[in-house]
Amino acid sequence: MLTKAKKPHLPLGDHQTAPWYGKDILSVKQFNRADLEYIFGVAHEMRIMVERIGTFDLLKGKILANIFYEPSTRTASSFMAAMERLGGAVIPISEVKYSSVAKGESLPDTVRTLGCYADVIVLRHPEVGSAALAAQYAGKPVINAGDGVGEHPTQALLDTFTIREELGRLDNLTVTMLGDLKYGRTVHSLARLLTQFNGIRLNCVSPKILRMPRDVLDEVAEKGIPQKEHTLLDKVLPETDVLYVTRVQRERFEDAAVYEKVKNAFIITPDVMKAAKKEMIVMHPLPRITEISMDFDNDPRAAYFRQMEYGLYVRMALLAMVLGKA
Ligand code: CP
Repeated sequence: MLTKAKKPHLPLGDHQTAPWYGKDILSVKQFNRADLEYIFGVAHEMRIMVERIGTFDLLKGKILANIFYEPSTRTASSFMAAMERLGGAVIPISEVKYSSVAKGESLPDTVRTLGCYADVIVLRHPEVGSAALAAQYAGKPVINAGDGVGEHPTQALLDTFTIREELGRLDNLTVTMLGDLKYGRTVHSLARLLTQFNGIRLNCVSPKILRMPRDVLDEVAEKGIPQKEHTLLDKVLPETDVLYVTRVQRERFEDAAVYEKVKNAFIITPDVMKAAKKEMIVMHPLPRITEISMDFDNDPRAAYFRQMEYGLYVRMALLAMVLGKA
């Protein structure tokens, strides 16, 4: 599902009529199933190219402004790696305190500025709706790299790509989301995106105070996806095909004592995983704190480090798409 193109003054490319050319990527609500199949196809090609030749010049001469107002390891560095593997260059602004933001410059002025120097902008910001606001002012496509507790659409795309690459399908799966479903923007985006597939059953397992937000549950219900909420994992673990574990996000809690009560609500260990299927995967957007024991990392079902790598290919695909080269 495409939003209106708003970047007609981008330099002409080989594929200026490509469907995602000049588009912002702000929410998973922009994508229908055909879009997803297209992205996964391009990402798969990127994987093959990286495995065969490493770096190539598809985006030679293009510049990415990578603006992070919140900490990030994976999203920031995988977008940088994606651009460089495609032969482009990056303006990294990860420490906004050293930019003119520290002097009080607004988000609209910051992205207007970077839009003069770069061809595409990746933005992470603590406020919900910040990427949409930036997209109104930037003269170049904006990709949402996480807007507070709102959405993280590129993470959901890489998550679904991971499931497809690991399990070979995205239909007829039981997906169990575990942990901090209130503040975890990755699960908000992933739950919405999973409604595009057939035969999905969703389990939401969390402490009562960290339940999936009502609006996400309602959107999923409207699409006819069966879903259940639980406070314990043991009932649903044996039927689970994808266990998506999340970190309890200390930085979003106003009361540290409340965080202390729930921070270790769930811990995945080899012993816990004895009750799970042999053919299933455990995912995590990372970083993890204590919610998955390192003792589990060598289990073939532990897909979270492979998941990070899939993120590189998906982000390469997205950059190529919005710059009219895919
Ligand atoms: N998954 C994810 O968004 O990780 P970072 O916060 O390290 O970017």
